[in-house]
This record gives sequence, C-alpha cells and structure tokens, in this order.
Amino acid sequence: MKHTTLLLSAIAALLLAGCNAKTPVTTDLAKNNIIPKPVSVTAEGGSFVLTAKSDIHVMPGGPEELASIAGYLADKLNPSTGLGLEVVSDGKKPGRGDIMLMLSDDDAELGDEGYELVITDRLLTVTANKPAGLFHGIQTIRQLLPHEVEADTVQPGPWVIPTGTIRDWPSYGHRGEMQDVARHFFGPEDVKRFIDHLALYKMNVLHMHLSDDQGWRIEIKSWPNLTAHGAKTEVGGGEGGYFTQEEYSDIVKYAAERYITIIPEIDMPGHTNAALSSYPELNKGGKAPELYTGIKVGFSTLDTRSEITYKFVDDVVREIAALTPGKYFHIGGDESHSTKIEDYIYFVNRVQEIVTSHGKSVIGWDEIAHATLKPDAIVQYWARSANALKGISQGAKVLMSPCTYAYTDMKYDSTSIFGLSWAAYIEVDRAYSWDPDTLVPGISRENIIGVEAPLWAETISTFREAEYLIFPRLPGYAEIGWTPAALRSWDEYRERLASHGRRMQIMDINFYRSPLVDWETTEE
Ligand code: ACM
Repeated sequence: MKHTTLLLSAIAALLLAGCNAKTPVTTDLAKNNIIPKPVSVTAEGGSFVLTAKSDIHVMPGGPEELASIAGYLADKLNPSTGLGLEVVSDGKKPGRGDIMLMLSDDDAELGDEGYELVITDRLLTVTANKPAGLFHGIQTIRQLLPHEVEADTVQPGPWVIPTGTIRDWPSYGHRGEMQDVARHFFGPEDVKRFIDHLALYKMNVLHMHLSDDQGWRIEIKSWPNLTAHGAKTEVGGGEGGYFTQEEYSDIVKYAAERYITIIPEIDMPGHTNAALSSYPELNKGGKAPELYTGIKVGFSTLDTRSEITYKFVDDVVREIAALTPGKYFHIGGDESHSTKIEDYIYFVNRVQEIVTSHGKSVIGWDEIAHATLKPDAIVQYWARSANALKGISQGAKVLMSPCTYAYTDMKYDSTSIFGLSWAAYIEVDRAYSWDPDTLVPGISRENIIGVEAPLWAETISTFREAEYLIFPRLPGYAEIGWTPAALRSWDEYRERLASHGRRMQIMDINFYRSPLVDWETTEE
C-alpha cells in the first residue's frame, strides 16, 4: 500500500515544494521559532526533507518504550503529512529522509530530560540519555516542521527542516500547570487535551486540584458520599461531576505516556465545604452545611481535633496515593481562615505523617510553612514570601507560583472576558518577564525545584474558556521553566510566540489574541 503511493507522493511533494507551503521554508536552523527556546543551536545551512520514503527507526535492542515514543511521533506526523511513516526497529540501516531515535547514557550535559538533534540532509537523529529526553526532542521536531504539521487532514508540505545541531536540556526539573477541576468540573477528555498542550511545550507536571468548597472530584471508595453528594454541583450551580478511580488512573497513564507526572491535591483543612457537606461527622458540632456554589474562600474547616478527621484523611490519602505513581501528594493548606493557627499547625503536622506513611512526599501552599515541615516537603509559593522563607529556613524547597505573575486565571487586562483580577492583570509580557531565581530576595536557585502556573476555575466552565486563559501564557511559563534566564528576552520571545499563533489556530486552540504580539494567523 505504502509503496504504491510512494512515487505519486514524491512527485506531489516536488510539485508543491515552495509554492503551496503556508509556512515559509528556511534552511537556517537558527531562524527557528521553538518554544521553549533551546539551549544551543548550530545551523549548517542545508535541508532535511521528509518524504514518502521516510520512516522512524529506533535503535534495535533498546527498551520497548522507544517504539512507543516512535509510534507517538508517527501518530503526530502521519495525519497531516500523509507520508505513512512507520516505526522500524529491526536494525535496518536508516536511509535518506529517515528519523532515528537513539538512547545513550554518556552525555552528562543532557541529564534525564535533555536531547540532542543532529539534522543532516540525509538523516534526523535524536539522542538522549532517557526516554523523556527523546520525547522532548520529538516536540522540537514538531515545532521545526511547518505549522501545518499539526493539522488533522493531509496538507501539501513540503516537510523541510533546516540542517544543524540542537543540544537542549531544562533549567528546572519541575515545570507544570495546575488545573482546578473543583470550582468547575472538567472531564477526562479536557484533562487529556490539557496534558497534550503541556507536552508540546516540554512541561512535565500536571497538578490536579481535586477538591474544594464547591466540589469533591475523585471517587473515594471508603467514603462514597464524597462523590454521591459532594460532586453534585459547582460554581454557579451547574451539575459538577467527578473522576471514577478508573478514569483518574487512565489520566495518570495518559500523562505518563507523555512524560508528565500527575500531582493530586486534596485541599485541607480549609476549602473543604464539599466534604463537610457530605459527612456531618467531619464538622465541629456534627452538622453538615449545604453544598456551596459561590466563590468566597476561607469559611470552611475540618474539625482538626477529632480523630474521625484523621481516619478520613488517612483513607483519602491511601486510596489516591495507591493510584498515583508520582512522588508527591499535595495537601493544599491555603486560606484556612476558619482554622485557629494552633489547630492548623497540629493538623498539618499530622497530615504530613499520614502522607509519608503512604510513601509520598508532601507539597502544600506556602501557609504550610507555619507547621514543622518534613525534610523533603515542598512549599508552593503563591502569596506570601515570608512563608516561603520560613519553609526554606526549615530546609524545604520551593515551587514558584507567584500569583502576581504565574496565576493563569488572572485577567490579561480589564477587558478580559474570563478570569479574576485580585492578584494582578497578567498580560503576556508580564507572564513571561520574571525570573524565579531573582524574584524574591532570599529565594534563590538552590532553593527552587521549579515553576508552576495554576489555573483556577471560578470563571471558566468549558475547556475552550480554559484555553483562553491558558494560551498564550502557557508557552511563556514553559520557557521560564526550561530555558536559562540569560537566553530569555521578551522582545525576541514575542516574535517566536507570534509564529505559534498560526500553529495554535491549526490546533483549534482558543487563544487570547494579545495586542502585544503581531500574530501570524490567517483570517477566520
Ligand atoms: C490559592 O490561590 N488559594 C493557593
């Protein structure tokens, strides 16, 4: 089948080369628009072309994962190129126009997530120490190809990549977004689309905010009313929803196949109205409140001095930890304004013990630094630098999510149709133009594990609305997490981002057309 179409496709590619391509073809690899910006690019001035003869070779004898990564690449390239690239793992010598995926373990500079692309006019070779590096290298290949490669129908091409070498690895090991599925529920298909967006920009963490005052969003078999009752609604009174444990596990697997770790969050002792409404015994006084569909914070608290609360937390953490291969369990801990400080400290200390007893390390919002932190606890800095510094003084590391720069739910400006503005207006330049290592005096490189941009969902109820807030800020957060600060500048970034306008358009991403960027888009 493939060979019967080969000649025709080759002729078509030649005829179409240079005349029908929507994305201008360059032979200068230095003129790439890759986000996040690679660490080093050396241009050679020639071109590599994918043709109907091209295949994706993986080194023989490597782990099975290599064939899966190659299959992922084939699935990305085949719908738009129509070239029918196949995965070849039998050790046959790659030919002209082939892609080769290789593992090596002796390139220390690349670390666990870095990769090297060597592009000649004959062959495109991706090498990495670990499969995650190959996966990130593949995202670079996607971005080096014309934007039309993202289409789901066959496009004319040609599929040209300039020759040269890219060597690339991330600044931080933790590069993530958070999705709030509690204020409004977003189902498995939405979460998977979010994961795909993260993968394209080499992010490696999705933090899922699974519970809040307005809804409990994950099945807990030992406390079934959490979802039978506590998942029934959401902000504004809509019907809510939740993930079954099977659905959650499927999301974890989907993310892992894209080298993305899921961090589950159960927010406590505040932000717990949905749980309190589901089980009266979790309330001081034993009376369950009504479900809540507004957007106030700080009014709910678990009864921190009752043993049933700790039985509840233990069951919840045990069940979720068993479904979660990642290292971390996020305990929330923010805005517990209805919990006395001594009760809050007592609670966080006990909950840390529970989390570690189930084999996970603790992450919490910066308020948890009031407690006595476990040595490997992570403080997620969002509001108060004094809290983050208190965490550091206890030996904790910090995850940087400053609400005035990294909150993806903030409006871009006063005209934004979704979002809040209590922290700041965060236009695309502001979202991009900060450096985690220097933002807060006293928090420096050695204290920081990485960057996370939270997306709170009070004002958004569909994934298209979510995309309006996520894009185009997400690529900027990805670049802050990946690219060394010395290589980052807004003036240069905004031009690369402009070219992603067309790519986002082809991917049907509902992005905010910031007036600060001269978007390359076509009429809609
Ligand atoms: C938060 O925004 N309450 C962590």
